[in-house]
Amino acid sequence: MTDWYSNIHLVVRWLHVIAGITWIGHLYFFNFVNVPLQAALEDAAKKAVNPQLMPRALWWFRWGAMITFLAGLTLFALVYLYTPGVGFGPNSLLIGPGGGLTDRGIWIMLGMTLGFIMWFNVWMIIWPIQKRLLTGKVPADQAPAVRKRAFLVSRANTFLSGPMLFGMLAPSHYGTFNWPTALVAAGLGLLAIGASVRSSYQVGKL
Ligand code: HEM
Repeated sequence: MTDWYSNIHLVVRWLHVIAGITWIGHLYFFNFVNVPLQAALEDAAKKAVNPQLMPRALWWFRWGAMITFLAGLTLFALVYLYTPGVGFGPNSLLIGPGGGLTDRGIWIMLGMTLGFIMWFNVWMIIWPIQKRLLTGKVPADQAPAVRKRAFLVSRANTFLSGPMLFGMLAPSHYGTFNWPTALVAAGLGLLAIGASVRSSYQVGKL
């Protein structure tokens, strides 16, 4: 209880994961529920539902992404760039005896790279497009192409989420690194998401 480092570490880790659930939960809602739903709705229903639904869902989605990212960076600093009783600086969890990255360090770098690409896609591509669509700033003739761009980037994020999560979990629950394992993990992640995307078009037709 008096160990401040462990308490702060746990709270930051908790914040990171709960924000991650909020972000990726909404990403899966958009991709597995909303895409097939929009295809099934008539225009009048879309006009009634979307102005109420989209701003709310997009708010939780983008702020979930921001808090996940900021808490993730803080967690990185606490775990890999700080040693209790010593101070700040890369520690032995990140840098091995030979001066290179440790296996744990490689896993988290892979996970964070994918997480960063996903965060970038949300804040620099998906949200700016959705904001322009919601505020009627996209001319009607350009709307389908603009919508398609947001859809493709969102779909890419959905696929990246599978391998990304292996990169988040492996550092403290797996440890050792080799490329065949990383490729199998990435393949399993992609397969699971691919199966979910496929099923999302079947649900509702049953
Ligand atoms: C956006 C960029 C992200 C960064 C910079 C980041 C950073 C980190 C760091 C540094 C760790 C600690 C790893 C360790 O214990 O060695 C971690 C763990 C974790 N992250 Fe992320 N992360 C990001 C995105 C995400 C996302 C989108 C999720 C989705 C849910 C997520 C879920 C997790 C989980 C579940 C853990 C493991 C917690 C545990 O085992 O105790 N992260 N992340």
